[in-house]
Amino acid sequence: MIVKPSLSLKTLPPDLDRDRLPQHVAVIMDGNGRWAKRKGMPRIMGHQQGVNVLKDLLRCCKDWGIPALTVYAFSTENWGRPTQEVEFLMMLFEQVLRRELAEMMTENVRIRFVGNLAALPESLQGQIAQSMEDTRDNQDVAFTVATNYGGRQEILQACRAIAQKVQAGEIEAENIDESVFESHLYTHELANPDLLIRTSGEMRISNFLLWQLAYAEIYVTQTPWPEFDREEFHQALINYQNRERRFGKVGKRL
Ligand code: FPP
Repeated sequence: MIVKPSLSLKTLPPDLDRDRLPQHVAVIMDGNGRWAKRKGMPRIMGHQQGVNVLKDLLRCCKDWGIPALTVYAFSTENWGRPTQEVEFLMMLFEQVLRRELAEMMTENVRIRFVGNLAALPESLQGQIAQSMEDTRDNQDVAFTVATNYGGRQEILQACRAIAQKVQAGEIEAENIDESVFESHLYTHELANPDLLIRTSGEMRISNFLLWQLAYAEIYVTQTPWPEFDREEFHQALINYQNRERRFGKVGKRL
């Protein structure tokens, strides 16, 4: 695991303002395959190292008091990858869930999966259901894993569910507002992310949380996911705290 020794594991770095930390951080964990290839290893080794990095980021959120973390683990488009890689990822998700469940309990982490979960292998679905059930009362960090997730697909399923309610006379069409719509998204129990981090340099949202990221600050680093460490996260948070969030209004600096 990559952790810079200069940063204390438990305490918030003194140059960060505790009162202005993002309350929800979303992450596009990109660059696993390229990182592994550069090191002369198979792509799957990048995913393996990616899990270690994710574990440390989750612990860091807990240590520094960031209550929600959502990561993009598998997109609806990722089925198009070589079969071996897809199978490895499914196996990895299941293995990690089984292995880390006890620690999520001690660390008081609540895990949720969002996406079209019914299309995942059955044994993985079972492990997902178990880990969501076991951790449901944990309150320190809300950890959400987007798996077989696509933002457009999520919006469409919300539209379908609302349309069915209109058809059944449960909702009036003119009463559909943002809060009604949000309540039909997979993420309805979470606040929208304040900060989106994308590793490995690409300047795209890639169909991730399309509705929820409307006002998120975006931070892109060239560092590939397997090398993203606490110091990188610290830099992302400093960068976030130096932004002025205007939510479409006129800023203080004008
Ligand atoms: C993107 O890198 C990464 C993924 C598609 C998978 C990330 C998954 C993990 C780190 C495992 C998480 C596990 C749990 C249980 C939450 P890429 O393969 O697209 O890299 P590339 O752009 O270099 O090809």
